Amino acid sequence: MRFLAAIGALAIVAGIGMGVFFFGGYYSVAGTNEDPAAVTWALTRVRTASINRHANDSPPASFGDAAMVQAGAKAYASFGCANCHGAPGVMWQKYSEGLHPYPPDLKKVAGDLSPAQLFWVIKNGINMTGMPSFEQAGAKDDEIWSIAAFVKKLSDVSDGDYKAWSASAEPKK
Ligand code: HEC
Repeated sequence: MRFLAAIGALAIVAGIGMGVFFFGGYYSVAGTNEDPAAVTWALTRVRTASINRHANDSPPASFGDAAMVQAGAKAYASFGCANCHGAPGVMWQKYSEGLHPYPPDLKKVAGDLSPAQLFWVIKNGINMTGMPSFEQAGAKDDEIWSIAAFVKKLSDVSDGDYKAWSASAEPKK
């Protein structure tokens, strides 16, 4: 009994300590804070597992068609993905260096993500990171599928192709 009471007392003290730490403003929310390696590892695992479990939509039959990839390039430009992730021949904005976690080079991650996973991430965003939900930003499902198709093909897209396909893109309002 005494042992259990001691555990209970410790839990209460720990709870109060955490309350003071977080609500007293001692925890720093600065974006420059490096996460401990274990936290980064855990967050990456949680993100990957979550995307794997949630991404269940089937791509449309036309997924990967040239027309769809080109429409995707235009939508990619309109929705401003290049600001954070860059694009063929387009540098990402300087401010993206200040994002934490850092936006990945999509050419490098496109091979690891299935069409359904790309669709889900672009549609829903990634909570507590700079990655927005493009459904909330007004993108329709067919636009999101086309963006996913473009991202899948990124490593084959030349600077000139991207320039031509995105030439008539207007920023979304
Ligand atoms: C404001 C900056 C910003 C914009 C704009 C943005 N992203 Fe992201 N994106 C991020 C960040 C930051 C991450 C990393 C999140 C993480 O590490 O969990 C990310 C992650 C991703 C991932 C997941 C990579 C992975 O390994 O799971 C994909 C795919 C992606 N973005 C695609 C897009 C597309 C397509 C667009 C445009 C429709 C876009 N992003 C617009 C910041 C942005």
